[in-house]
Amino acid sequence: MQVVKPGHVFDRDREWDALVRFATSDSPDVRLGIVSGRRRMGKTFLLDAVAEAVGGFYYAATDGTQATALADFGAALAQQADGGRYAFADWDEALRQVSRLSRGLVVLDEFPYLARSAPGLPAVLQRALGPRGYLRAGTTRLLLCGSAMSVMGGLLTGSAPLRGRASLELVVQPFGYQEAARFWGADDARLAVLVHSIVGGTPAYRREFVAGDVPSSLSDFDAWVQRAVLSRQVPLFREARYLLAEEGDIRDTAIYHGVLAAIADGNHTRGGIAGYVGRKATDIGHVLTVLEDSQLIARETDPFRKGRSFYRIREPLIVFYEAVMRREWSRLERGDQAAVWRSSRATFLAKVVGPHFEGLCRDWATSATAAGALGGTAAEAGATVVADPARRAQIEVDVAMLAADEPGSQRRILSLGEAKWGKTLGVRHLQRLRRARDLLSVRGYDTSATVLACYSGTGFDADLRAAAHGDRQIALIGLGDLYQ
Ligand SMILES: Nc1ncnc2c1ncn2[C@@H]1O[C@H](COP(=O)(O)OP(=O)(O)OP(=O)(O)O)[C@@H](O)[C@H]1O
Ligand SMILES: [Mg+2]
Repeated sequence: MQVVKPGHVFDRDREWDALVRFATSDSPDVRLGIVSGRRRMGKTFLLDAVAEAVGGFYYAATDGTQATALADFGAALAQQADGGRYAFADWDEALRQVSRLSRGLVVLDEFPYLARSAPGLPAVLQRALGPRGYLRAGTTRLLLCGSAMSVMGGLLTGSAPLRGRASLELVVQPFGYQEAARFWGADDARLAVLVHSIVGGTPAYRREFVAGDVPSSLSDFDAWVQRAVLSRQVPLFREARYLLAEEGDIRDTAIYHGVLAAIADGNHTRGGIAGYVGRKATDIGHVLTVLEDSQLIARETDPFRKGRSFYRIREPLIVFYEAVMRREWSRLERGDQAAVWRSSRATFLAKVVGPHFEGLCRDWATSATAAGALGGTAAEAGATVVADPARRAQIEVDVAMLAADEPGSQRRILSLGEAKWGKTLGVRHLQRLRRARDLLSVRGYDTSATVLACYSGTGFDADLRAAAHGDRQIALIGLGDLYQ
């Protein structure tokens, strides 16, 4: 069955197709789906549109007791079924009625609220979906949706009752950086990077949170930051704080902010973060786990050293908040954003845009378009640090890419790259990459075809361009390539 995605839903073609396939499937094995993803990613927006398109029943729960939730659900179901009154004694009764009434998709959005007021609900669903259960026998296809990753993730793991019952598991992610540029209408690549370094790919930040205010051009960027991000009258202003406060598992926000501030300040290892917040590395393990589970931070492993991980903040707005807004909060509350922006702009470029640009380059390097320029598709990609004992130095490699491990042969390094947002790269940057490559070669890697990649948001000097000319093992990648 072909169900056309409505025009107001931007991107999300893959998600749309998966949801429509689920909603219209004839298979008795397709009865339960789980949709999750962080707040503001557009789960409700998407599910509402799908339910509308296929004539399904969409219900969003609110916080409440089991009794109020059942009453609310009964009223919504009655409205959908044209009148009637339902007073359900429990969820089993409510779901039986749903399976009698509905001939297709039923969406239970904000499911974590329901699960909290009725801890037995997953077990009720398990029975209803079991071999002789009424949901299994009927034609209802149930989608559970929610943002509390601790609840949604837990529905299907370990010994959870619903494990093995879901035929669809969809995580709604932020838009990729290229889609985000289109979404924001940022045709200028430089503007697109700057905007993405603050609001990332979260759809809601382009709409309700700034009332549709987008920078009209690169020259409007500074004014836009002041009126749309740093202004206390705009919802985006408090958003980074709310994001953390809304995570159910977080009680003492101070230590969480401390850890996020540490990462935003450039401390990416567990030891570095612990040092910054003045705790022992073992004491922040729980905080890191909670932040990782709630998808606010990500742990990336060094492709050359398995035991070494880097922590990164996944939501750019949090980096921006920790690096720029938090330290100026009282001035911002007084409405002095012009002065704050004047004194924070350099910090913004160094702590926010610079590292963000490195991340975009890593994203690009693993994309299909990059494979041609970088000698293949990477099995692993990430940042690394190469020790140079003879010179008592450490060489940071921002974008390192490895081919798949083939037993019996040396691991091939596809590419080593350096990324700089605000600097024109020259031959000396290339020399550093050469040195890193030679050191890794001594350590047993196959570097015979390694491409040395220079990524710049500013450009490359004449000597570097001359060196790269006609040499397939040197790649110069500018903003035009990233946004091709
Ligand atoms: N694909 C999209 N195209 C256009 N706008 C979108 C899209 N997805 C989301 N939005 C915008 O983002 C807003 C927030 O999305 P939505 O409320 O669906 O997020 P959510 O994931 O349900 O968040 P929460 O977990 O807080 O409920 C929408 O109201 C809409 O303005
Ligand atoms: Mg929602």
